[in-house]
Amino acid sequence: MQGKRGAFVGRDIVPCWIADMDFEAPRPVVDAVVARAKHGIYGYTDASAELEDLTLRRLKTLYGSTETPDRSWLRWLPGLLPGLHHAVRAACQSREDRVVLLTPLYPPFLAAVERNGATLVQIPLIDSGASSIEIRFDLDWERLASELAHPATRLLHFCNPHNPAGRCWSRDDLERVARLCVESDVVICSDEVWGEMPLEPERAPFCSMLGLLPSDGGGGDVPGLRERLIFLTSPSKCFNVAGLDLAVAAVPHEPLRRRFCAGGSDAAEVTPFGYVAATAAYGDAESELWRQRLLLYLRANRDFAFGALTQAEGVRATCPEASYLMWVQVPGLLAGTTAAAFFEAHGVGLTGAAEFGGGDDCVRLNFGTSRATLEEAVSRMLRALENL
Ligand SMILES: Cc1ncc(COP(=O)(O)O)c(C=O)c1O
Repeated sequence: MQGKRGAFVGRDIVPCWIADMDFEAPRPVVDAVVARAKHGIYGYTDASAELEDLTLRRLKTLYGSTETPDRSWLRWLPGLLPGLHHAVRAACQSREDRVVLLTPLYPPFLAAVERNGATLVQIPLIDSGASSIEIRFDLDWERLASELAHPATRLLHFCNPHNPAGRCWSRDDLERVARLCVESDVVICSDEVWGEMPLEPERAPFCSMLGLLPSDGGGGDVPGLRERLIFLTSPSKCFNVAGLDLAVAAVPHEPLRRRFCAGGSDAAEVTPFGYVAATAAYGDAESELWRQRLLLYLRANRDFAFGALTQAEGVRATCPEASYLMWVQVPGLLAGTTAAAFFEAHGVGLTGAAEFGGGDDCVRLNFGTSRATLEEAVSRMLRALENL
């Protein structure tokens, strides 16, 4: 958040906006990048067999793939965004082809549809109004079923855990979504990058679409899903290496994989630094311990920010089950003022909701920072709210 200050540069603004963290990557990752830098030759590079093995193991263990993933499934990408674009190109041929997504949603999902000449269909998540202080987003099943059944719908751009809703969709949710897609012959692109960061696995476990593939012994939980699944992930969010530009797609079904790869033939190559960082993140035991400590720290940050902000009159927020992103809704703003502009004027840089397909009264708070910085941001927000 400090590296990319955007419009906040040179101003007294606490940056709690773009989705990266203020923490150094785990030591093995830093060491691996330094060692690679010292190598001195930075030519075109492929993923090593070691990284491929580590990734396949992670898909099986952390993501719970019920089918043993195969090397051939993998396609390395210089970030998740290219994968979102390639998925649209793989599934859609014309302007009439529709892509369904659930808003509010990380804005580049929406842009990926429009830039690739398909028709965007937004289904608002429903705030199930868990309590007067908590926003809890749920799927609108009726709308989802009807939009997926539309004959021109080709793709569901799915985000799990969802940015910015913070929900880890339950296994039942996933199964229902997958069945609806199969029934209507719709491809699912499931971006699961935040699956590496569940904050409360005992209450809200992360489940992956990979867990609905046919098991090795035969028999699928959701027959037909395998033929329609594009899975995306990356170490970028969890290990704070987003600037190293590496992500991976896993596409089990060969014909779909061919279309996905053809749709991505213009993508840049992954850099050698991305590969070595991913290898150290996935392969080194110290990185895994770092991840566990990080999740505890973030959970405490989440509880602090949620507790403090929702004490302000009328403020509601998500209590995210994964990620370091909180959706905050502010009542009583002057007409024409956005919550993001309001807080920026009071010294906190947040992400506005409009580009997510959300309301002007909402902002996204990034709590992936030190407690001291978060306390400063939250106290500025509370002071601002007192002046409302
Ligand atoms: C769900 C999701 N997908 C993709 C991205 C962007 O990833 P990348 O920087 O690898 O393109 C983000 C960034 O916040 C995200 O939240």
